[in-house]
Amino acid sequence: MSGIRFTPSRRAVLGGAAAAATMAGLPRFAIGSPPRIKVGFMLPYSGTYAKLGNNITDAFMLRMAELGDTLGGAEVEFVRVDDESAPPKAVDNITELVLKEEVDVVVGTVHSGVVQAMAPIVREEGTLTIVPNAGANRITRELCAPNLFRTSFSSWQANYPCGDVVLKDGHKKVVLISWNYAAGKEMLGGFTESFTAGGGEIVKEILLDFPNDEFQAYLTDIAALQPDAVYAFFSGGGALKFIKDYAAAGLHGQIPLYGPGFLTEGVLGGVGDAAEGIKTTLHYSVALDNPLNLKFREAFQSATGRESDVFAVQGYDTATLLAKGLEAVQGDISAKRDLYAAMEAAEIESPRGTFRMSKAHNPIQDIYLREVRNGQDHILGVAAEDVEDPATGCSL
Ligand code: PHB
Repeated sequence: MSGIRFTPSRRAVLGGAAAAATMAGLPRFAIGSPPRIKVGFMLPYSGTYAKLGNNITDAFMLRMAELGDTLGGAEVEFVRVDDESAPPKAVDNITELVLKEEVDVVVGTVHSGVVQAMAPIVREEGTLTIVPNAGANRITRELCAPNLFRTSFSSWQANYPCGDVVLKDGHKKVVLISWNYAAGKEMLGGFTESFTAGGGEIVKEILLDFPNDEFQAYLTDIAALQPDAVYAFFSGGGALKFIKDYAAAGLHGQIPLYGPGFLTEGVLGGVGDAAEGIKTTLHYSVALDNPLNLKFREAFQSATGRESDVFAVQGYDTATLLAKGLEAVQGDISAKRDLYAAMEAAEIESPRGTFRMSKAHNPIQDIYLREVRNGQDHILGVAAEDVEDPATGCSL
């Protein structure tokens, strides 16, 4: 695998002598010296989700800097691999991180298909893994494990509340459109569950291969079908293109567009007026008016020169969760029982608002109803409070 490389930030964290020791292949732990841990990022740094992987990484490093570049007193070494959001490469990539690089902690990943291939391996090896985005429901249902945590959301969680929103807006007939993989299908599934239970009808479900972004023919179909509304999950580069193409096909302002908030996160700067009026549900909004969110947005902007988004928040919270766990064991990653107990009990002070983990290790969190107005995300209200994934099939 060619993707592994040391990040520039690793050198900054390790400092000269420590970095030299690691390069020379010396042990990472020495009697009398502070504990050391090795964290492996397995994230997309190329392709349609590249910006998501970069925002997660940069916000994690921002939190590290706030923590004095240590976790519970442990010095931290980083490696990272570009997983390309490619499920066929996932087993090789995670095997390299866990068995060859011997990382103590995996932070990964964004894509649900990739995370589902990683999970059986990290469960088997017992490597602490924190999922900073991928929503695959199974991760905190059938595949849940003592060493597997998620700081983001389950796909069900972010979408189920939107069924009622669309019904309340008076729309009964909806076309669904997304990519044909676990996240796409589960996001549409979460929406469909509440929408049809309330009397809504799915007129058509359109699924494109990931990461195909040739939307035009499908938008022509939608125009012909004339549904009351469209519900879409795309993200990253694909979402940006979808929103633009939707407007170019003449559908913007004609057929209301809804989706999980991933559709508009991180793309508003690039789509101009085309996103006006899109309504979404999500566990975060940049518009949240709490002191930590204001501080976080400013700090991320000044560290990276980019605007923060939900993906950055999830990366930031991943470092906070890991820090809370390692503080409880003075940086001793081998004290697994106490480490996991502290992570399970942690209150995570997040830019999204303080949250706790469910028994299945998934956040219990409010889901906001948002609308794009004047090029900005705007909060209309809380669509559902304290939403907890049902965690079906998890017995932790
Ligand atoms: C996923 O594959 O689980 C996924 C990807 C991008 C998002 C959200 C979820 O924005």
